[in-house]
Amino acid sequence: MANAMQILDKSFVPFITADEIKTEVSSLARALNADYAGKDVIFIAILNGAFMFASDLFKEIKLPSAISFIKVSSYQGMNSTGRVDEIIGLTTNIKDKHVIIIEDIVDTGITIEKVKTLLYSEKPASIEVCTLLFKPDAFQEKEIPKFIGFSIPNKFVVGYGLDYDELGRNLGEIYQLKEGSNPTKNMLNIVLFGPPGAGKGTQAERLIEKYGLSHLSTGDVFRFNIKNNTELGQLAQSYMSKGHLVPDEVTIKMLQAEVMKHPESKGFIFDGFPRTNAQAAALDELLALMDSSINVMLALEVEDKELKSRLIKRAEVSGRVDDADPAIIANRLQVYKNETEPVKEYYQAQNKFIGINGLGSIDDITKLLFSAIDSL
Ligand code: IMP
Ligand code: MG
Repeated sequence: MANAMQILDKSFVPFITADEIKTEVSSLARALNADYAGKDVIFIAILNGAFMFASDLFKEIKLPSAISFIKVSSYQGMNSTGRVDEIIGLTTNIKDKHVIIIEDIVDTGITIEKVKTLLYSEKPASIEVCTLLFKPDAFQEKEIPKFIGFSIPNKFVVGYGLDYDELGRNLGEIYQLKEGSNPTKNMLNIVLFGPPGAGKGTQAERLIEKYGLSHLSTGDVFRFNIKNNTELGQLAQSYMSKGHLVPDEVTIKMLQAEVMKHPESKGFIFDGFPRTNAQAAALDELLALMDSSINVMLALEVEDKELKSRLIKRAEVSGRVDDADPAIIANRLQVYKNETEPVKEYYQAQNKFIGINGLGSIDDITKLLFSAIDSL
């Protein structure tokens, strides 16, 4: 990968490689080609920043479509003035057309919101935004761009069309502003595992409270993306609705977006993730981007016999039928074993696995977890 570099008074470090950009641009083009097949489409790219992205993306667009380049002004140096006065350069008629706005980056979202408002007055059939980069933490508007390449932390970036005082646009990869000290370095990142009935949910809450961690459960991340109808959410749903497992690649990207939303977090507790070695490796790479890593995998260990009786008791209270049927319980425990064993070995190989005796009172188990973490 490229080295750190200086632009004017600032240092930047490599953040997204040219290859990663290329792969992502292709995947965005595929999504657009599929979504807009048979529709009357027009692309509108926002200059200057989006010129490189628009060029690479448009090469892979298979739709018979025009592209128009417009200009707005909202940024100087590193601070948004938050103003967009007018659109210059829109010469094509967009009435009744499906407009796809191409942006390099959506930060506060103010620019894109104003552009959309101005374009709506021309009565297009629809407007969606396709942005290479998105900063969820800086975003202030309601409507999240439908097509997002990378969700990134709220740090200034340059390269691939993006500038710092008009410099850096020519770089083929994306760089991130380097800060004096990196607060993410001291993060506490925990992978919490435990079979159904081990008391994972209760213990996760206590760990979050004590260590100020952000909770990342794959289930919640799926629901968030599906609810907000993001590209990844739609993709995930297309598998789930057929009863298929969501592929690792999709799950990892969603999780990445979530992690990047909390660049200043004290750490994360990963719940129900990673489920495969590929996911564990992807998680390592993702945390490395934040100068961080997984500290420990904590696995609550409870024998099957005990789990079965706990689940049956829980069924009596909750009425959950899947907890009551011994055959279903046995199957869930088996699935858990098949899934976790390889992941456990992954962390054992890194000397990061700690098994916790999950028998005993809730408080006792919490104490064991706390002392395991404090001894790290
Ligand atoms: P927004 O209105 O805050 O969403 O800002 C959009 C514009 O701000 C982009 O089109 C960029 O020109 C500029 N911008 C926002 N963040 C960055 C960054 O990290 N690097 C370079 N330009 C940025
Ligand atoms: Mg721009």
